[in-house]
Amino acid sequence: MSNNKRKMHLNCHIVGVGQHPAGWRTQNDTRAFINPHFYQEIAKLAELGKFDALFFSDSLSLHGHPHGPSQMLDPLIVSSSILSVTKYLGFICTASTTFSDPFILARQFLTLDHLSQGRIGWNAVTTYNPAAAKNFGKILLPSSLERYTRAKEFIQVVMKLWESWGKEALIADARSGMFADPAQVNSIDHHGQYYTVTGPLTLPRSPQGMPLLVQSGSSEAGQALAAKFADIVFTSQTSFERAKHFYRCLRAKVKAQKRSENSLKILPGLFPIIGSTLAEAQERKAKMDELRNVDEDIIMLARQLGIEPDDLKLHQPLPYQLIEKSSKDIVSKGFLSEIVNFARTRNLTVYQLILQNMGMHRMLLGTPEMIADDMEKWFLESAADGFNLNFDSFPDALQVMVDHVIPILQKRNLFRSDYTEQTIRERFGVAYCQGKREISD
Ligand SMILES: Cc1cc2nc3c(=O)[nH]c(=O)nc-3n(C[C@H](O)[C@H](O)[C@H](O)COP(=O)(O)O)c2cc1C
Repeated sequence: MSNNKRKMHLNCHIVGVGQHPAGWRTQNDTRAFINPHFYQEIAKLAELGKFDALFFSDSLSLHGHPHGPSQMLDPLIVSSSILSVTKYLGFICTASTTFSDPFILARQFLTLDHLSQGRIGWNAVTTYNPAAAKNFGKILLPSSLERYTRAKEFIQVVMKLWESWGKEALIADARSGMFADPAQVNSIDHHGQYYTVTGPLTLPRSPQGMPLLVQSGSSEAGQALAAKFADIVFTSQTSFERAKHFYRCLRAKVKAQKRSENSLKILPGLFPIIGSTLAEAQERKAKMDELRNVDEDIIMLARQLGIEPDDLKLHQPLPYQLIEKSSKDIVSKGFLSEIVNFARTRNLTVYQLILQNMGMHRMLLGTPEMIADDMEKWFLESAADGFNLNFDSFPDALQVMVDHVIPILQKRNLFRSDYTEQTIRERFGVAYCQGKREISD
């Protein structure tokens, strides 16, 4: 048993009723994704397992597998509806910097941060699906470069708004009648390339300084943004050596920003499929795979690669040359690079790739011990500070994780046995420090 004090961080990713596109077909309630009790049950289970947070991904257009419920309800609204069944669990909600308004977003996240007593995080995404643009009066998605330029200013505005009330600004003194200290509530007077916002925000400072900031783009621009602003990075990493390289390089970029390397936590995705034997895990996966709609899988894969579905032949390798020439403005460069590397190094056909979660988040089949061993290795050998966990189908796969894998990690002193911190920042060890992060350039 190792005696290290550093503990891993674990998030539970919620998408539809689970990550496997056919997972919904194995459930009793095939409409569970619109059932409020479904989310409450997941939240209670995740808190029982002492997870750091639930992570809600999001999409602003119908995507993924239209034959299954991979579309999402609005993350902030789902979170607000289940806060009250938990006490410590964090909620990380995705929202787009390309298709949102910074004042409204800052206000909504801070509202929820107050109502949860400091348990909210924002996964700031630039949105790479061109279909989303058409839902916001635009024919074309802005280029990746423009999206990141806008994202930087958007995040700066949101942070300025979150800081527009000083920590002690709320006086609320009934005797003197002083509600807030005017000297500590200031306008932000932001005039930038994309936004003009006067401020201040309409509500007081967050109980945790400001909501947690998560970044999940892995391109050069995404990493630069993360190094500057993010507290947490979600990333797709399917190879141990590449993950170590990513971990080392991103931490160096954080240091170059004059931040402590530990002020950013790096969480690769992991997709465990757990059985009491390896064969049992394989059987579980095979049963779900039989129910897949491969035509829809091809559409989804082609979208991730920036090519047309007809360019993919089911039992042939990926068309690497075509992918190289395709537009990188309509894909996630981070996902693309992982998918291509995963398929090429294993010499996979399109079909084999599809069955391996398309190479997007590392799929790992095994017994609880095998899963725990792998997580321990990545964590102790500087490839990860924890994991953003995907489950094939809720709540049963999460239940198995909580009942069988988490206790092993706890026994090895790799994961908390109980909550000791209230806010999500404290839990991730990324305390907010006023003025330490330069946000004015
Ligand atoms: C783990 C993970 C989760 C993500 N979740 C979302 C999401 O919920 N919604 C979204 O629009 N993009 C999501 N993204 C995409 C990115 O945030 C980013 O906008 C996209 O990858 C383009 O960035 P890149 O080209 O720098 O990789 C996610 C990426 C990763 C790695």
